[in-house]
Amino acid sequence: MSDQPLVQPVSTVTLTFNDTNETIELPVLKGTDGHMGIDIRKLYDKTGFITYDPGFTSTGSCYSGITYIDGDNGILLYRGYPIQQLAEKSDFIESSYLLINGELPSKEEKADFAHRITRHTMVHEQLSDFYRGFRRGAHPMAIMVGVVGALSAFYHDSLDIDDHEQRDVAAHRLIAKMPTLAAMAYKYSLGQPFIYPQNKLSLVENFLNMMFAVPCEPYELNPVMVNAMDKILLLHADHEQNASTSTVRLAGSSRANPFACIASGIAALWGPAHGGANEAVLNMLQEIGDKSQIKKYVERAKDKNDSFRLMGFGHRVYKNYDPRASVMRKTCHDVLNQLGIKEPLLELAMELERVALEDDYFVERKLYPNVDFYSGIIFRAMGIPTSMFTVIFAVARTVGWIAQWREMIEDPSQKIGRPRQLYTGSPLRDYVPINKR
Ligand code: SDX
Repeated sequence: MSDQPLVQPVSTVTLTFNDTNETIELPVLKGTDGHMGIDIRKLYDKTGFITYDPGFTSTGSCYSGITYIDGDNGILLYRGYPIQQLAEKSDFIESSYLLINGELPSKEEKADFAHRITRHTMVHEQLSDFYRGFRRGAHPMAIMVGVVGALSAFYHDSLDIDDHEQRDVAAHRLIAKMPTLAAMAYKYSLGQPFIYPQNKLSLVENFLNMMFAVPCEPYELNPVMVNAMDKILLLHADHEQNASTSTVRLAGSSRANPFACIASGIAALWGPAHGGANEAVLNMLQEIGDKSQIKKYVERAKDKNDSFRLMGFGHRVYKNYDPRASVMRKTCHDVLNQLGIKEPLLELAMELERVALEDDYFVERKLYPNVDFYSGIIFRAMGIPTSMFTVIFAVARTVGWIAQWREMIEDPSQKIGRPRQLYTGSPLRDYVPINKR
């Protein structure tokens, strides 16, 4: 593998070890956004030292040209395009093409991409047997982790990661099948029959139809719900090197097949500190109950002795308003107005946001609402159960996981990810026979 950096060094830094006065010069690399990174790849070989950064707060794991976040200014770009413009003018399938291929598609390219995805929306009939092995009350994310990982047992003709064609087919299969598998998880929880995808429907129309249609009567798609779901999927599609994307990259770096890698991303996304936060926000709002309780819960969130956190608030990168949350809040109002729904939880969420953003604790720590704060309220208005919120996040983020996985596989400098550690355990010692312990 070539070790030649894709990004050329722009300067150097000198590291001085004060106890020995030894110095080492390290290259400085510069991203297209002007951010600088110290290239420490030779640090251990030259000095025997490692760096220590357990949450990767100051550590870059890769080059990437897919998504850019300026956390201080609340900016999010997909391949250079602002998320607000894409949310307003693009749609999920077009933005998926953009994230994976790097450019907005022509009319023909978009139609061809949509057609390819449509042709992969059905799943192998035997996959439906997997669902029957789960208890009816199984969390749909538990089902998704299992069933998506199992896809590699059915699609052997798209496992060769060195074959560009097979990488393409695997990508199309995953984008197309995630909505189908997600809808099947929902239907299974209801005890209703699975609904097959219909090729005359778009990906988002299909997803809603598979979720809500029943065989006994025609299901009428509501354009308000179709547009809202399309926008939500677009907003969730990618987000740089977040925990689940980094998990997918790490799994992919061992050359695991794409289905296994996406299953690992689903597992990581499930955590309430990450993609599971949208479900946790709804549960939190229902626990708070009404505006009179807000102050009490805000105080609990500030109390270090209380494990309660304001779910949907704070972000590792955004130290400003998450631009997706702004779009989500507007979409929330639009959907509720268009569906004629009075949702007290929205009023409660907005009052909670107002109180928190006037509180020094949140202001000093630059804790703002993130993408998960409003999404659950929209899902609830659409009749989607709380347990499906993170599943929908996974449906959307599969596009970003695939784009990032392909970028890593196609990066000539890619190596297996293998972090080091600072050992704090016992020094060398001999075995003690059990009768002597
Ligand atoms: C997503 O990375 C991504 O891009 C993720 C994501 C994506 O699209 O992939 O954007 C999706 O995961 C959004 C985040 C969803 N999670 C939540 O809403 C859960 C609640 N948020 C927190 O758990 C937290 O804010 C994190 C996990 C999101 C970020 O944690 P960090 O970066 O490790 O920050 P931290 O825990 O070091 O917090 C800094 C300070 C701490 O206080 P001090 O020790 O400085 O006194 O802020 C406090 C924290 O206690 N803090 C909170 C808080 N979040 C941080 N206090 C109360 N409520 C909160 N929500």
